Amino acid sequence: MKLIISGTDRPGSNSKKVSFIIQKIYATLGEKVEIIDLADLKIIETMQKSRYGESVPTVIQKTLDLINQSEGLIIVCPEYNGSMPGVLKWFIDHFKYPDAFEYRPICFIGLGGMFGGLRAVEHLQQVFGYRNSFIFPDRIFLINIFRNMKEGELTDLVALDLLNKQSAGFQKFCRALQSEKMDAKSLLDLRRPN
Ligand SMILES: Cc1cc2nc3c(=O)[nH]c(=O)nc-3n(C[C@H](O)[C@H](O)[C@H](O)COP(=O)(O)O)c2cc1C
Repeated sequence: MKLIISGTDRPGSNSKKVSFIIQKIYATLGEKVEIIDLADLKIIETMQKSRYGESVPTVIQKTLDLINQSEGLIIVCPEYNGSMPGVLKWFIDHFKYPDAFEYRPICFIGLGGMFGGLRAVEHLQQVFGYRNSFIFPDRIFLINIFRNMKEGELTDLVALDLLNKQSAGFQKFCRALQSEKMDAKSLLDLRRPN
């Protein structure tokens, strides 16, 4: 299964609303996709206790295991002060290396003001590129998101069309990698002892 990571724990988050929209798009494409909402992981409370792998709480560990088993990750990332939110980086820093990163298909949706989260997405590309993930080239930048959402729906129809195209494209991208067993999940399954 593919996973959508909603990249912040801010109450009332637009990233979460966009994540739901993307989940619905995948449903129309015949695919069930699960959302990981960082707000559910209680990251701020956990930070004080975590020792990078020694004492990760069960709820976070279960989510990290899901990531290792995922077909691909769709990361919805808001821009906070010219980058990704700190909670998202903390979460990524708990991914298992190389299992979670290497050859894992990843796709990005940024949101923010006039640049639509461009800087946050480019920082994520550096992180996942450095860790050898397969980055889907079509990125989406949702500009002025605070003006372009109404009752949980995107009012910018051009952006909605781009999200539809990106989702269909990412589906094909993942399938193409799977067909040659080049994706992270296939490689992990091959490595796992019978
Ligand atoms: C702490 C914080 C910092 C922000 N910094 C930026 C920024 O540097 N650039 C930008 O375009 N928007 C910035 N914004 C606007 C957000 O990208 C926008 O409000 C978006 O809805 C945030 O995503 P969220 O609703 O999922 O939290 C910031 C918002 C917050 C809360």
